Amino acid sequence: MIVINKIEDLRKIIKKEKLEGKKIGFVPTMGYLHEGHLSLIKKAKSENSIVVCSIFVNPTQFGPNEDLEKYPRDFERDKFLLEKEDCNILFYPTVQEMYPDGFFTKVSLNVLTGKLCGKSRPGHFDGVATVVTKLLNIVAPDNAYFGLKDYQQLLVIKRVVKDLNIDTNIVGCPIVREKDGLALSSRNVYLTEEQRESALSLNKSFSLVEGMLLKGVKDANKIKKEVIKYIEGFRFTKIDYVEIVDPETLETIEEINGNFLMALAVFVGKARLIDNNVFTIN
Ligand code: PAJ
Repeated sequence: MIVINKIEDLRKIIKKEKLEGKKIGFVPTMGYLHEGHLSLIKKAKSENSIVVCSIFVNPTQFGPNEDLEKYPRDFERDKFLLEKEDCNILFYPTVQEMYPDGFFTKVSLNVLTGKLCGKSRPGHFDGVATVVTKLLNIVAPDNAYFGLKDYQQLLVIKRVVKDLNIDTNIVGCPIVREKDGLALSSRNVYLTEEQRESALSLNKSFSLVEGMLLKGVKDANKIKKEVIKYIEGFRFTKIDYVEIVDPETLETIEEINGNFLMALAVFVGKARLIDNNVFTIN
């Protein structure tokens, strides 16, 4: 695996590979890699001849009181893990390389970003949309891989790629979980052992919803209330949001009569954890 820090160096290599007819797969990350990230690398490896992974903790997607400075980092470990997966190119730019002095352009959406995480983290998705647009322009991959863990992010990126005619196929990949159901996240390192128990309330609440659906409950607000009560029953939890929305538009659903997305954001101690599940109704 080669490590590249400069945009122009990466461009040259990608151009050469493309001339040789190689298919490029791309996995953007903020590092501190875990099996969730590595599942994207594995999928990219199986569908492309060259896999590029980027590690860049993107400052523009963090709010002023968020964890940018404290965001966990371990470059050597990440490099080791990527080498093990046979990743071909690691793009590891500096903030100055990505946002040189005089950088003024922003990619901003008028849809999808006003709710869920966009509501609690103003500006977050503009930061994501901007950096992902830049990365897709730099790498120019045939396929780019994103996790359903960040469901809203995936919808935002699909929309940007469609609206701006970016010539990349966006592939959504399933959420990777620990054996006990906790969705893998770089932020799980913030949890103490006791808090980790409480963190399980997010994924466990999906079984609660399943049970209510089996009983024929159709009132989305009733389901939300039960879930809130359930999660609040655990120590260290502070709910940011519990929402039931349309899986395509993210519009709020009142009455359940088709597939829906349940999306959660919960502070557990210092960690803000997100999880989601699409429920299919036959
Ligand atoms: P990061 O949080 O590092 O995640 C990188 C990719 O890994 C995202 O597509 C995310 O959805 C996926 N991922 C994280 N945990 C996962 C899990 N448990 N199962 C499956 N996939 C998982 O998301 C970002 O970085 C950034 O916003 C980024 C897109 C890189 C832009 O800065």
